Amino acid sequence: MSKEKVVLAYSGGLDTSVCIKWLQEAYGLDVIALVGDVGQEHEGLEKIRKKALKTGAIACEVIDMKEEFANEFLAKAMAANALYENKYPLLSALSRPLISKHLVEVAHRYGAQYIAHGCTGKGNDQVRFEASVLMLDPSLQIIAPVREWDLRTRSEEADWALERGIEVPVTKDALYSIDDNLWGRAIECGALEDPWNEAPDDIWTMTSSLEDAPAEAEYVELEFSQGLPCALNGIGMSFLDIIYALNGIAGKHGFGRLDMIENRLVGVKSRECYEVPAGLALILAHKALEDVCLEREVLHYKLGIEQSWATAVYNGQWFSPLKEALDAFCATTQGDINGTVRLKFYKGNCIVVGRKSESSLYDFALATYDEEDVFDHKSAKGFINLQTLSTKVWATKHLSAEKQSVASCPAGPEGAPSGLIEEAEEVLNQSACAKA
Ligand code: ARG
Repeated sequence: MSKEKVVLAYSGGLDTSVCIKWLQEAYGLDVIALVGDVGQEHEGLEKIRKKALKTGAIACEVIDMKEEFANEFLAKAMAANALYENKYPLLSALSRPLISKHLVEVAHRYGAQYIAHGCTGKGNDQVRFEASVLMLDPSLQIIAPVREWDLRTRSEEADWALERGIEVPVTKDALYSIDDNLWGRAIECGALEDPWNEAPDDIWTMTSSLEDAPAEAEYVELEFSQGLPCALNGIGMSFLDIIYALNGIAGKHGFGRLDMIENRLVGVKSRECYEVPAGLALILAHKALEDVCLEREVLHYKLGIEQSWATAVYNGQWFSPLKEALDAFCATTQGDINGTVRLKFYKGNCIVVGRKSESSLYDFALATYDEEDVFDHKSAKGFINLQTLSTKVWATKHLSAEKQSVASCPAGPEGAPSGLIEEAEEVLNQSACAKA
């Protein structure tokens, strides 16, 4: 009888290599490895494929997901100006549902009943993989070897691997835990676990330090069509190519680093460092264009939607109906987001210095204080009278009640805090005058 099959999300690193052997030994399964190319740094995809097969996988699928990542995932993140806790651009959270979608497709293609991943039991990624897989096919079963095996340290894991002839990377003690893709890099563990330690220089690979960044500023013009970047410095490019080009420019100027404490879904606060040069610059530029193109109430309402979107995606809800509904809201707001934003990069900064748009709602004649001003200054008086009426009624009532309680307090009006009585009297007089 042929063995049952499991599809494993494979990176080529120690954890997922040990997973291949462990799934064979502990569960007696045939392992199909899936390597998703989401633009991460790697030692060569062919090399990773060979390693999976050498370690015992019966097949290894290497899938280029970069275009899909940009056009289906990052494009929606742009529309939602996606920043979890107003800071983190969700780079890992965005790649997990994409990889999960392919895990499910490969499982269906090979007739596999199981899906496995190499995440620990303490992070967000396990939730994202499992929630995504189960939303796409609730009949699949998940195995998370790292949560199950008793290999407690990296060196125990390396020994277990060496005993079984699995190639172990030379850096036996990996200093950091890193996840990366074309949107950026996430770095945690090691010296970063003490939030007081300044992040060591060696964690950054996409961005220059402030010291090394050029002494000359650089200007970049980004053009958007329906909310998506479509040209850089006047040259039309795909969204994916713009991300790559801007990673180079922004990274060179030391822009895009984050050092933060974030709240994981599992309840732990963790210290994370990120570098997201293009992503942060693009979100900044996109917001600047929305500022001029979106009607005020839509813009304000959208801020709340954006928070909900980022939290849902952080929490692994990419394929949920809530996230789909939030996407629909964002999509309806993007039709008018057309125009150009001018950015200035200098020593770790990215500053919006100009914006122009055919869909702009900025009206010079309304905004100017010069003679071209068409704003009706006199209408402001009536507007403020009515706009403040409700709180004026409240204040009158509130202050007259306070006056009464002060008058009847045993210490007498003398005991009342100074100024309060006068204030109450003034408000009551004013409202009496207004009635007259
Ligand atoms: N904390 C981030 C998140 O949950 C990044 C996690 C990525 N993993 C890592 N090894 N740094 O999205």
